[in-house]
Amino acid sequence: MRQVPHYLIIGNGRVARHFLHYFNLLNIQCDNWHRQESFALLSEKINQATHILILISDSEIEKFAEMHLRHTDAMLIHFSGSLVSEKIFGAHPLMCFNPTLYSDDQYPKIPFIIDHDAPDFESLLPGLPNQHVRLNKEQKAKYHALCVMSGNFSCILWQKLFSGLEKEFQIPAEIAHGYLMQQTNNLIQNPKTALTGPLVRNDKNTLEKNISALANDPFQTIYKSFVTCYEQLQKVSS
Ligand SMILES: NC(=O)c1ccc[n+]([C@@H]2O[C@H](COP(=O)([O-])OP(=O)(O)OC[C@H]3O[C@@H](n4cnc5c(N)ncnc54)[C@H](OP(=O)(O)O)[C@@H]3O)[C@@H](O)[C@H]2O)c1
Repeated sequence: MRQVPHYLIIGNGRVARHFLHYFNLLNIQCDNWHRQESFALLSEKINQATHILILISDSEIEKFAEMHLRHTDAMLIHFSGSLVSEKIFGAHPLMCFNPTLYSDDQYPKIPFIIDHDAPDFESLLPGLPNQHVRLNKEQKAKYHALCVMSGNFSCILWQKLFSGLEKEFQIPAEIAHGYLMQQTNNLIQNPKTALTGPLVRNDKNTLEKNISALANDPFQTIYKSFVTCYEQLQKVSS
């Protein structure tokens, strides 16, 4: 008979809160421990657990496991997109998690990128209906670099537009929401035709005016490096 899973989530950061909520929605038994609680309580919870999700800062995951989880038979799992570990299986939820919980229907749609040598998904994360794919651990560093550039770096650029509109031009940031939505939709529908603007048009005059307008702004460096990067991409593809 299949063992009923008993999860333990370590941590109380953003991802821990989202997944505690998700397990609750799925009616899956899940304990939580965070470092504001006692180590005696941690030991009790480890003894009950079949699966321990170590959802803490990347740099602390292996140290925590070495210090507190050496003697458990429970399966150890981390959610980091970049950490490569011998003893702890990686399952990276390809999603951004902020401090606000999402709507119930969002959670089952989150895909997991799991280590190539991880057990069956049903054994790794029993009860989760989410899609998963496997990735060779040697490729995780590059994979995560691409995730950070696309999700995190583009976020910084949109934050710059929103704050620029409000602070420099006294225009409400919401006015650009339609632009963001359409750019996102265009990318999903056809990534190859989604890029518009002076780079695609090779409009050097506008590129130079944009760069001058960003004098004394740390984003001038970013603008210039995108122009250089785009020129290199054009050379490679021609
Ligand atoms: N956020 C995302 O969008 C996202 C997406 C995919 C994967 N992930 C992965 O999910 C994991 C958690 O990320 P997060 O965004 O939830 O981080 P976070 O919000 O910064 O929370 C980090 C948590 O780690 C705890 N912690 C740090 N050092 C610890 C230690 N030595 N012992 C016990 N607890 C410790 C912190 O406790 P205190 O509160 O006491 O400091 C906090 O609860 C990471 O592996 C991350 O790479 C994150």
